[in-house]
Amino acid sequence: MNFAGKVIIVTGASSGIGAATAVFLSKLGAKLSLTGRNVNNLTKISKQCETAANVHLIPADLTNEKDIENIINSTVKHYGQLDVLVNNAGILETGTIENTSLAQYDRLMNTNVRSIYYLTMLAVPHLLKTKGNIVNVSSVNGIRSFPGVLAYNVSKASVDQFTRCVALELALKGVRVNAVNPGVILTELQKRGGLSDEQYAAFLERTKETHALGRPGKPEEVAATIAFLASDLASNITGASVPVDGGRHAMCPR
Ligand code: NAI
Repeated sequence: MNFAGKVIIVTGASSGIGAATAVFLSKLGAKLSLTGRNVNNLTKISKQCETAANVHLIPADLTNEKDIENIINSTVKHYGQLDVLVNNAGILETGTIENTSLAQYDRLMNTNVRSIYYLTMLAVPHLLKTKGNIVNVSSVNGIRSFPGVLAYNVSKASVDQFTRCVALELALKGVRVNAVNPGVILTELQKRGGLSDEQYAAFLERTKETHALGRPGKPEEVAATIAFLASDLASNITGASVPVDGGRHAMCPR
């Protein structure tokens, strides 16, 4: 995989899967626009990247339309082109149909779906010029159903459907669109979503049974799959939702 000369936007690059993806892509020669809300963390991640000159930081809250517009404008102004969009940022909250709220629905859909919808709309004219591609970070929750995280499941199923539809719309124009569907990955997502330290420890312990490989995944393992899908090695793959979940998607209770 070689991304020399390629310009890549990674959202949610200040932590977890986004940070690992930024660092990995930088080692493969990419020029990066890294976006996130936490500027201190973004700066820390940029220091782990291979070449400082190839990192452009764009502070952005993806629930703010002006910030989304600035991600594209600032990238094109800085680098003159866009080759890959990695829609990674997302949030998780717990809730069932009996105790969810419309406010929760709006938070999850605005962050996990609406922001991707708008950022992709604005990125596509530039991706058409470079025959670039898009990688969306969905979840095993997009392709399988779990109780207790209702709005999150709905948001990630939307990301998978969005991936397939946009892939079909852009295929003959030379732009590929794919998704990765991680299982449990060691990041801050679940604790940010409300799990206490004890609940999180129990959640991780359960991955011995809930994931065929018997362990949670690492952000670097997702980053490697994102990089593959974004690379020319994946030139015949579009509209795919690729599990990176230790076999979680293939399991069912017995
Ligand atoms: P994380 O919490 O470390 O990273 C999420 C990133 O998204 C953070 O940098 C956060 O600041 C950013 N973000 C959230 N809301 C934002 C907003 N309004 N504006 C700008 N940035 C915002 O967690 P992780 O795990 O790295 O999450 C990345 C993606 O992976 C998410 O889409 C998540 O749903 C997905 N995922 C994670 C799994 C896991 O077990 N960690 C499993 C399946 C999917």
